[in-house]
Amino acid sequence: MTQQNYQSVIDEIKSRCSIVDIISPLVQLKRAGTNYKGICPFHNEKTPSFVVSEAKQIFTCFGCGASGDVIEFVKRYHNLTFPEAVERLALQCGISIPESYGEQGKKKEGYYEINRQAARYYYSAFSGKTNPGLTYMIGRGIEPSVLKAFGIGYADDSWDSLSGELTGRGFERNMLLELGLVSEKNGRIYDKFRSRVIFPIINTRGKVIGFGGRIIGDGEPKYLNSQESIIFQKKYNLFGLNLTRSEIQKEGYAVLVEGYMDVISLYQHGIRNVAASLGTALTQQQARLLKRYTEKVVLCYDSDNAGIEAALRGSDVLRKEGLDVRVLNVPQEKDPDEYIKKNGREAFLALISKKALPDVEYKIALLKKQYDLSDTTQSIKFLQKISGILRTLTPVEADLYIGKISGEYRISEGALRREVQSGAGEIDLSGPVRPEAHEKPEETAKPDGSSLSLERMLLRLILLRSEYLEGLREYPEAIITARGMRILTVFRDMFTEDSDLELEAVRDALDEEELEYLEEILREVQVGEKDEEAYADCIAKLQERRLEKRKKEIIDLLSLAEETGNQSQLDNLMKEYMMIQQMQKR
Ligand code: GTP
Ligand code: MN
Repeated sequence: MTQQNYQSVIDEIKSRCSIVDIISPLVQLKRAGTNYKGICPFHNEKTPSFVVSEAKQIFTCFGCGASGDVIEFVKRYHNLTFPEAVERLALQCGISIPESYGEQGKKKEGYYEINRQAARYYYSAFSGKTNPGLTYMIGRGIEPSVLKAFGIGYADDSWDSLSGELTGRGFERNMLLELGLVSEKNGRIYDKFRSRVIFPIINTRGKVIGFGGRIIGDGEPKYLNSQESIIFQKKYNLFGLNLTRSEIQKEGYAVLVEGYMDVISLYQHGIRNVAASLGTALTQQQARLLKRYTEKVVLCYDSDNAGIEAALRGSDVLRKEGLDVRVLNVPQEKDPDEYIKKNGREAFLALISKKALPDVEYKIALLKKQYDLSDTTQSIKFLQKISGILRTLTPVEADLYIGKISGEYRISEGALRREVQSGAGEIDLSGPVRPEAHEKPEETAKPDGSSLSLERMLLRLILLRSEYLEGLREYPEAIITARGMRILTVFRDMFTEDSDLELEAVRDALDEEELEYLEEILREVQVGEKDEEAYADCIAKLQERRLEKRKKEIIDLLSLAEETGNQSQLDNLMKEYMMIQQMQKR
């Protein structure tokens, strides 16, 4: 289901379903000029005073005063809440509506369950009688206790052992296909993972979201990963973090590596503050995920060119999140796994403390290798490149490095400073990769800025004081985005009378996308000391909006009353209009 903005659903309902079509099956309507008339369903009457305007898409009763738009009608007629009325109408006009938190959660649970059972199946194939997977992993020196901790499994060489097992247990093949556990050919399904060691990918909430499978021995592709699905989005997850996050917190830093085997191998050798980025370039979301547990990261990628390139980009991503980044290239060996296997834990820890360079120094050290500093022309180019890097830093950091570098490379401090300043504002394409603009949540229709910031402020305030949750019940229109609604539902589920919301518990209940939105709110929405004032301000804005909306409605109703020549209704509407205007002045 694509994320759809809630307000856009409301707008679509109003433009797609005619109020007359909705009301006429429920109330017998007769044409009266340009309008329709009928017996009011909201009070007892003999002569019709209930009027529906096709042109204005509103209803009103001149007897009891009930009036409003199509959503208001459905709400009152069926005695529903506002969101329930929206849901009912959306269904009726065939508009897809953002799933409520509960529905989506239920659907996801089904997928998690399949993956859980698949993981158990692979695990029992691996840990039962001897098999090529176990032999391979033991051959790579991994101990049984570690294999168990990571839930390592084995997919045998048959085409249908997992699919047979899971369909036999009644799971739908469509769901297996969506999870990428099987593929389909000529109407038959086949196991995707065959003859592979299986690495379950488990998120920090302990759910199996996907799998990595390594070929046993040589062959292509070496690793196969689950495709993305509604429960597996690579960019939000890191391999191993479910086991290692507390250790990362405890150690005060994370070691970030490239591969599954690096994580497992370091873990076995006692470096348990480790995680890997699932075979893709490090994403901003993954950096944010790490930042929940630590402020410092040591990037320890493979020593080949691809690894160096990935480290350069990764360090920019981490820096952008405000993390303290160091980069370590293991000498000689190909990757951290091989290094620690050969040299042991102490040697690896010594590397981290002696050889891991702060990101800026790492970049400069790489540059230095590319230029012959005894040659004047090349020295100048080197200096210009360094200036390019320094320009991306904060002034304080830049200042620090200018001093350091001028000493180290015997460059005049003044010259370096001028070079850094002279190029400021220029776009240096050859310099370090500049992190792309901050990703915004992908709403299909952009709600107007003030409604969105109101929603964000209110969600922020609820986290400060649960009592605002109650107050907000009266203003269902305040939350306009689908993910905002789901976060609000989680707040409601978590709220108990005697305690404020526990941020950690809320985080654990949210899925990646929702969490992303919440973290953004926590980061960007400032409340300051005066939360009560901020809340009152929000409520005032919401009330103001309601008044504005009612004024527009009254103008429509006035012309309707005029057309039908209803004098008393005209008087009442005029009175109400003036009252609203007076309230707004105050
Ligand atoms: P081993 O050879 O088992 O030690 O693996 P490694 O971790 O040293 O592998 P490598 O450095 O080649 O790759 C690092 C990571 O990139 C792996 O853990 C995978 O996540 C990913 N990767 C490697 N090869 C492939 C591949 O063929 N396909 C995909 N999709 N990902 C791969
Ligand atoms: Mn390796």
